Amino acid sequence: MLSINKINAYYGKLKVLHDLNLSVQQGERIGIFGHNGAGKTSLLKCCVGELETQSGQIDWAGQRVVAHAVHLNTRMGIGFVPQGNNVFKDLSVKQNLHIAGLMHDPGFVTEIYQVFPILRDRQNQMAGTLSGGQQQMLGLGMAMMRKPHLLLLDEPTTGLAPIIVKDVLNAVRRISDEQGMTLMMVEQNVQATLAYVDRAIVLKSGRIIFDDTSLRLRQEESLWHLF
Ligand SMILES: Nc1ncnc2c1ncn2[C@@H]1O[C@H](COP(=O)(O)OP(=O)(O)OP(=O)(O)O)[C@@H](O)[C@H]1O
Ligand SMILES: [Mg+2]
Repeated sequence: MLSINKINAYYGKLKVLHDLNLSVQQGERIGIFGHNGAGKTSLLKCCVGELETQSGQIDWAGQRVVAHAVHLNTRMGIGFVPQGNNVFKDLSVKQNLHIAGLMHDPGFVTEIYQVFPILRDRQNQMAGTLSGGQQQMLGLGMAMMRKPHLLLLDEPTTGLAPIIVKDVLNAVRRISDEQGMTLMMVEQNVQATLAYVDRAIVLKSGRIIFDDTSLRLRQEESLWHLF
């Protein structure tokens, strides 16, 4: 279980998260939505220890997330895929996936190729010469090769063609299901994402103003202006 307990976070003097509480059960899939600047990325960064919390705590599976120790938090099974630039551009697709899977099961690459067939087709191409969307799929594939127990995704479908968006969300859902992953996914494609998550959270100015089932958010038209 992920337990976020009254956290406050700042960039310098700018307070971006205010007394934020959140509990996420193992295997739960959560969509995080909200305006630009609402604090969505900051929340993910706190969960992996990239952004320090000034007060409050975050625990994953009973262990404390340590600020500025992303490598340690990663070893607890927390995976973070930031927006863009997640691949080694001078290595081939195959090499990128292989490196990502070294600590776990390099054979899992066949699963990744199944969900992203384009990566199989381009396995010998330098990652830096893939299109933006293809690099995004590779970054996602690499994260999954690490078999995280808690996967934090920051806008995984941004920049992807609309017909690919569903494929990627389907792939994320399928692999998270198979692996029993807990998923927190920030998304701008709210309507598309709601079909793939169980629970929806809306952030406004660093505070959670909605936390309920994705179905409820779909029905709550009065809230749609918030994202
Ligand atoms: N490195 C930084 N230094 C200073 N301020 C920052 C930094 N990163 C983010 N901020 C500020 O913190 C606030 C929250 O930013 P954050 O990136 O968490 O928002 P977001 O909800 O992810 O927005 P978006 O939808 O645009 O990605 C914003 O006001 C932003 O300007
Ligand atoms: Mg963001």
